[in-house]
Amino acid sequence: MKHYKRILVTAALPYANGPVHIGHLAGCYLPADIYVRYQRAQKRDIKFVGGSDEHGVPITIRAMKEGVSPQQIVDKYHAIIKDSFEKMGISFDIYSRTSNAVHHHTSADFFKKLYDAGLFEEKETEQYYDEQAKVFLADRYITGTCPVCGNPNAYGDQCEKCGSALSPEQLISPRSTLSDAVPVKRKTKHWYFPLQNYEEWLKQWVLEDHKEWKNNVYGQCKSWLDSGLQSRAMTRDSSWGVKVPLPDAEGKVLYVWFDAPIGYISATKELTDKWEDYWCKEDTKLVHFIGKDNIVFHCIIFPSMLRAHGNFVLPDNVPANEFLNIEGDKVSTSRNWAVWVHEYVKDFPGCEDVLRYVLCANAPETKDNDFTWKDFQDRNNSELVAIFGNFINRALVLMHKLCGGKVPVFHNDIIDSTDQQLIADIKQAVEKVTRNLEEYRFREALFEVIELSRKGNRYMQEKEPWIKAKKIAEGGEAAERAQKEIDNCLHLSLQLTANLAILINPFLPGTAKKILHMLKVVEKMLDWENAGSLKLLSVGYSLRAPELLFRKIEDSEIAAQIEKLKANAVDKATVAAPPAEDKADTLVLKPEIVYDDFAKLDLRVGTIDAASKVEKADKLLKLEIDLGFEKRTIVSGIALHFKPEEIVGKQVVVVANLAPRKMRGIESNGMILMAEDKAGKLHFVKPEDAIAPGAGVS
Ligand code: 2FM
Ligand code: ZN
Repeated sequence: MKHYKRILVTAALPYANGPVHIGHLAGCYLPADIYVRYQRAQKRDIKFVGGSDEHGVPITIRAMKEGVSPQQIVDKYHAIIKDSFEKMGISFDIYSRTSNAVHHHTSADFFKKLYDAGLFEEKETEQYYDEQAKVFLADRYITGTCPVCGNPNAYGDQCEKCGSALSPEQLISPRSTLSDAVPVKRKTKHWYFPLQNYEEWLKQWVLEDHKEWKNNVYGQCKSWLDSGLQSRAMTRDSSWGVKVPLPDAEGKVLYVWFDAPIGYISATKELTDKWEDYWCKEDTKLVHFIGKDNIVFHCIIFPSMLRAHGNFVLPDNVPANEFLNIEGDKVSTSRNWAVWVHEYVKDFPGCEDVLRYVLCANAPETKDNDFTWKDFQDRNNSELVAIFGNFINRALVLMHKLCGGKVPVFHNDIIDSTDQQLIADIKQAVEKVTRNLEEYRFREALFEVIELSRKGNRYMQEKEPWIKAKKIAEGGEAAERAQKEIDNCLHLSLQLTANLAILINPFLPGTAKKILHMLKVVEKMLDWENAGSLKLLSVGYSLRAPELLFRKIEDSEIAAQIEKLKANAVDKATVAAPPAEDKADTLVLKPEIVYDDFAKLDLRVGTIDAASKVEKADKLLKLEIDLGFEKRTIVSGIALHFKPEEIVGKQVVVVANLAPRKMRGIESNGMILMAEDKAGKLHFVKPEDAIAPGAGVS
């Protein structure tokens, strides 16, 4: 293993065209912060840099649509994002922004150095241009009819209905999404970076020298490298961004993915005069925390740029996470299907650590994962409150009650195997947590911390100091022995509490602080070298009264969040969808039928009596429906949209004469009617007022 003298941690620069959501936190900011806090506790020389990515097409488009300048857009969102990170305890040493002058100079100089070395290819190509909006159009901003499935709202790079990868040329009747004008082709010159020249080197560097990288990262790199690399344009036609530092480049800026990662260098420059130590010395460990959509840029393109430049170190690791879905659905900013961090901190003040806990315990480290509000509540109530918080609270309450508010002495002469087991458990947990943190397995590391507090609870349960306290009143030898046993139990429990503060600190820094306050010890105790020690609290030292570390989260709070998520998703979708596209989509009718075709359907009103999930089928709910004249079991694909308990009692319209069908081994006898809105959200079709089940619908 290479020996490093200093560590530089970066976390992806979020685009300043919207606030950050919990998927962003789980993807890279939280793991980066946990890693950094741990390394700081290890007293290592470490810097943590981040900032807002303020260039790129989406920002200019947003500005155009809102009728404001791009600078106004990035100013607004940079402030919101920065504040969200601060509130969530993401402890950047600097949170900068790419519209800063330092960054413009740094990235322009970087480009110039590569240009002067003859490392770019200059090419003239034809690209689509919107003559009304006066901008070149990225493929995404051209829509038209999909040549494969006829979807009238396909994009110039992809049809989201049939999934076909497209180019703007393939679209039938292409239009600009900005002005609805028909795009025209225009000649334009750009500078391309020939990635293929770095392919052999990358194969060695990633595929041979970094076999230890996470499977998801390594796998993505391999597939990019296996399919061969090509030149990529590193400049764009735009007035927003870092100007191309060449005399014949009027109206051209650096491609956002060229300048953004250089933002890590600019931020380090702003942070410290010693920035070159972190970027240019071989004994720096550079670690990029990112989400999976950024892998190719951080593992292939940016390293090739760094190598071409020649002055900089390369990343030692790029521990990318997968995505976090919300309530079974992909996060979508345009549909507003997201839990926004700035809203969370307002809705749950003082519960920042709870979100950190849930996002880490359920982190998408190896595969996409799902965040549900129910799981958030369960983890808070049954893990943080009932296990971790409960143990620490018990230790402090009992110490005040049975040991006069002071750390009791440990009587070595009566140590028993239960004590010894707990001591061994503490040491083992420290080793495991440390190893997992060093190797970027944050979820596992956190699990070990909670496990240790669970063992603390078990220890206390076995020792039962509250029962032994009863013996004290009896006096004599038995009482003396009982007090000694109580002392030992609480002495060890308190030392464990101090250890838990150290171990939980990288994950839940606010909680660690609260424990320190109760234990009346200084922050220095949290140094990682203290982990595993059983002498953290001196005998006879008096401690403060306990305060609860976590509060219970109520059902009503969870219901309100689910409601908010659903309500907002619909609103946003209505606003975001352009009217022309709305109409076009719903105008595609099925072929005409005659009345007799319709009359074959026996539609009835039913009431949902019961609903439950179908095992191993994410999308299915098993419904028991009262049709008045009989009860029916119907299996319905609505599980991603509704929680079983939410729909019991609702009325529905049932296709009552549909032939039975087996789904996941359950016979389904009918189908319920649902309406789907533009956002893909389902709504029940039902009588306006409740009526007796069994009524016919025609
Ligand atoms: O995906 C994103 O949000 C990009 N703005 C990440 C940039 S990371 C780095 F290169 F700056
Ligand atoms: Zn299509």
